[in-house]
Amino acid sequence: MSTEYPPAHVSFGKAADDPEAAGSAPAGSPAVDTGEGAAARKALTALRGEVAKAVVGQDAVVTGLVIALLCRGHVLLEGVPGVAKTLLVRTLAQTLSLDFKRVQFTPDLMPGDVTGSLVYDNRTAEFEFREGPVFTNLLLADEINRTPPKTQASLLESMEERQVSVEGMPRRLPDPFMVCATQNPIEYEGTYPLPEAQLDRFLLKLTVPVPSRDEEISMLQRHASGFDPRDLSAVKAVAGEAELAAGREAVRGIHVDPKVAGYVVDLCRATRQSPSLQLGVSPRGATALLATARAWAWLSGRDYVTPDDAKALARPTLRHRVQLRPEAELEGATADGVLAGVLSTVPAPR
Ligand SMILES: Nc1ncnc2c1ncn2[C@@H]1O[C@H](COP(=O)(O)OP(=O)(O)OP(=O)(O)O)[C@@H](O)[C@H]1O
Ligand SMILES: [Mg+2]
Repeated sequence: MSTEYPPAHVSFGKAADDPEAAGSAPAGSPAVDTGEGAAARKALTALRGEVAKAVVGQDAVVTGLVIALLCRGHVLLEGVPGVAKTLLVRTLAQTLSLDFKRVQFTPDLMPGDVTGSLVYDNRTAEFEFREGPVFTNLLLADEINRTPPKTQASLLESMEERQVSVEGMPRRLPDPFMVCATQNPIEYEGTYPLPEAQLDRFLLKLTVPVPSRDEEISMLQRHASGFDPRDLSAVKAVAGEAELAAGREAVRGIHVDPKVAGYVVDLCRATRQSPSLQLGVSPRGATALLATARAWAWLSGRDYVTPDDAKALARPTLRHRVQLRPEAELEGATADGVLAGVLSTVPAPR
């Protein structure tokens, strides 16, 4: 399992506060946006430190979630139980003053339990719409693969359309709206794995690793000195909808050199040629990679995207969009391994 992004030589925090410190940006690179965009970047950077008050480590995952919010995407979170997936998303919502809801997907969950349904009101003798948990900003969809396809489909539809239709009546979801869906990677029995076509709807697949020894010790020390994960009152809101909107606007201004666009396409085309894969990255995947790389470029304090940005985001953006051949899987190949091979063979423009 790897989360080797952001790459070690790029520091999201430092890059944003101090452009000189951005290892990957050439010296004298043009100063990125000033004013609103710069303030938004500063706030979104501060967010990482704020989340760290509750969650030890997991910086790369937090960065990935911010990138997804900037790109208006949704995220698959993969990790064994107890690595703070829930705590992370709850804390993120608090630092952004966003509404948060969690749904445990079970075999008997109905589409209406997610989207909401019409209920009869005796007093008015009319049907009224009662909003389901999908009407929120950050939705944690826990163990999405435990619910049958019909309920999965209702969530995926809301993700795509950003609205819910009940009895033909469309109702808009709040904005921002991001789904973080978890899948338990160790249990497959009695589950309904998401079909490939559905996986493509998630912008990123982030792996939440088990913390290092030192991180785990520091987590225990916090608990010993009274930290209670149920009480997040010490975590402040450091950014909000306005900063996210300004950030999105600024990301739209990130310059894309045709050579970098060509590099992204070459990476994706190489996956289609890989003998270990039966399904390579679709053109939608290529679009996604350029989008996440641009968001990362902006967070790093640049106004143009580099091949390194694309490299940094290739695994989390593409790993769920490729399908291994069964033979390759038996031989121990992994999506991340194949992507690492592609990254090392496709020449990057200079
Ligand atoms: N990196 C960490 N930093 C701080 N606390 C942590 C960390 N990892 C685990 N914990 C502790 O473990 C508890 C369990 O985390 P949480 O419930 O968020 O895990 P999860 O990944 O959502 O698990 P599950 O898959 O069972 O839902 C947290 O409340 C916290 O006390
Ligand atoms: Mg959880």
